[in-house]
Amino acid sequence: MEVVETGIIGLDGILGGGLPKGRTILVAGPAGAGKSTFGMQFLYHGIVSGGESGIFVSFDEHPEHVREEALNFGWNLNDIEKDNLLVIIDGFSPRAGVSSEEEYQTPVDVDELITQLVEIIDKTSAERVVIDSITALALSMTDEQQIRKQILKLSAVMSSLECTTVLTSEMRSGVVSRFGVEEFMSQGVIVLNYEYRNNVAIRSMNIRKMRGLKHEMSERPFSITPNGIEVYASEQFYF
Ligand SMILES: Nc1ncnc2c1ncn2[C@@H]1O[C@H](COP(=O)(O)OP(=O)(O)OP(=O)(O)O)[C@@H](O)[C@H]1O
Ligand SMILES: [Mg+2]
Repeated sequence: MEVVETGIIGLDGILGGGLPKGRTILVAGPAGAGKSTFGMQFLYHGIVSGGESGIFVSFDEHPEHVREEALNFGWNLNDIEKDNLLVIIDGFSPRAGVSSEEEYQTPVDVDELITQLVEIIDKTSAERVVIDSITALALSMTDEQQIRKQILKLSAVMSSLECTTVLTSEMRSGVVSRFGVEEFMSQGVIVLNYEYRNNVAIRSMNIRKMRGLKHEMSERPFSITPNGIEVYASEQFYF
């Protein structure tokens, strides 16, 4: 199976090279776990290292904040946006009911989003897409059946365009998918978490599933450094 590098140090090795190309991966975790950082690091790496364009759909944060936070990791998004290597779609302002000066905007609607993604992919040849978060998108849907159908549709369209897609998902009380279906609708699930030990927060990453790839199931410690996410060997977990 063809894989695409995430650029996350320590993770590509565990995955046998990277995420399966053209598949949909769920990155789940509680608030502040590093989901958005994971998504942006994946896109940024594809752009600067592989020349693969990307699209970041932001429902949870204003694009200006996304740009500011990325800059903290040394990722200057303005430059790559100018070159059309990265497109940020503002799903936040329409959702919050405020006006936006962003070039790309989307309402909280899967069909509309798919149409826009297809147009942008056609224009920029994007090969990586991040939707931050699928939870926000699913909140607009009425029932489990619809969520299931819409996520499958999104995933199928992205796959037909050979786009590798990361969906971030809010995790509450240890339950991977808020609506109980997201994890089954995606080809892979990576859980980011943290716990406190002696008042120190320890972050961990766990590949819950990755259809078609041989990978380890153990929990790995990771940290968010000034360069982004870095995953460590398990031995370093117990200190
Ligand atoms: N430059 C940085 N250096 C080190 N750690 C950072 C840096 N920037 C952010 N962090 C850490 O990363 C956390 C946020 O990561 P991120 O926004 O990716 O999480 P998230 O899972 O998307 O959160 P949310 O559920 O709120 O959207 C912060 O709470 C902070 O602990
Ligand atoms: Mg986030």
